Amino acid sequence: MSSLLAAARFGDIASRNRIVMAPMTRDRAGPEDEPTELMAEYYRQRAGAGLIVTEGTQPSPDGKGYWRTPGIHSEAQVEGWRRIAEAVHAEGAAIVMQLMHCGRASVQANKAATAETVAPSALRSAAKIPGPDGVPQEPDVPRALATDEIAHVIGEYVEAALNARRAGLDGAELHCASGYLPMQFLSSNSNLRTDRYGGSVENRIRFVVETLAAMAKAIGPARVGFRICPGHQINGMNDADPEETYTTLLRAIEPMGLAYLHLIHLPLAAFNPLALVRANWTGPIILNNSLSFEEADRLVAEGEVDAVSFGRHFVSNPDLVERYRKAHPLAKLNRETLYTGLGDDRTGYTDYPAFSG
Ligand SMILES: Cc1cc2nc3c(=O)[nH]c(=O)nc-3n(C[C@H](O)[C@H](O)[C@H](O)COP(=O)(O)O)c2cc1C
Repeated sequence: MSSLLAAARFGDIASRNRIVMAPMTRDRAGPEDEPTELMAEYYRQRAGAGLIVTEGTQPSPDGKGYWRTPGIHSEAQVEGWRRIAEAVHAEGAAIVMQLMHCGRASVQANKAATAETVAPSALRSAAKIPGPDGVPQEPDVPRALATDEIAHVIGEYVEAALNARRAGLDGAELHCASGYLPMQFLSSNSNLRTDRYGGSVENRIRFVVETLAAMAKAIGPARVGFRICPGHQINGMNDADPEETYTTLLRAIEPMGLAYLHLIHLPLAAFNPLALVRANWTGPIILNNSLSFEEADRLVAEGEVDAVSFGRHFVSNPDLVERYRKAHPLAKLNRETLYTGLGDDRTGYTDYPAFSG
């Protein structure tokens, strides 16, 4: 097995291997939603990856949905991310920031009192979101964005992408998956708008297309990626025809020349998401979800995808690429400590050791 160790390119972003660290929210930012020194250590430990996609990072106070997630809209946050980018680059990996605006998947107590919960339509999600104490709560009832406010939200993503570049990261990934704001626009059950951002599939894809185009204009298309999970009924998503939605979306995005598409692949009865992507997208593909090394190696060796991303394996195996290279066994994940840990508490975060025989 070695196909995962060959170098790759995602647009302008060079990666020394095809093993990507998937974005993972860990709820460990500081009091001003700024990345901490401990976060820099966490990412540095995992920089055997060719490319790291950061945890979901809010482009604005309104975009925050969970407790203690980092932002990229203040100078303190830019400085914190700069230290992370430096630490990761020193180890030879590339790093892109995942921009995550949670939209309606949000609990007010998790964010600033002055921040608002906004979405395409004023529909509360049925899926609960953990509050500051970790206990799942009913999410907020969002306020529907007015048509003339949408350009402002897109502008927040643009500023965030520019800030990520200013902090020294290699690019930005638009989080269009998992039931957050962009997917709330895409999905027919969460977008009941009657303006040009809702209704027909051409209207429902408009927010994502305009946001990616604006980010591409700001930092260059070859430094912009995006993440999708067609057909996934997560966080209350239930699109009437995901096959049509994502086919139309990818055909609109394809000409932009973006860096990569990051697919969370879920086997569905109705259609095969990877086959849909391959039929409508010719750029680099990063595949994710519950992959084993064997499957990942085969998919890359056969040219089905360009790279793979691992989430949970990277939590408990900071040296995941070394373990792959040397066929060492993998350490088990402790689910209890995924989102815990205050201040300097390293437990379940930076205290997973490298393999020592
Ligand atoms: C603790 C945790 C946090 C996650 N946070 C994010 C996130 O911020 N953004 C995102 O796109 N996916 C997030 N995910 C999903 C992962 O990126 C990935 O899709 C998922 O874990 C499946 O991949 P795996 O089987 O390799 O773990 C998260 C997953 C976990 C386990």
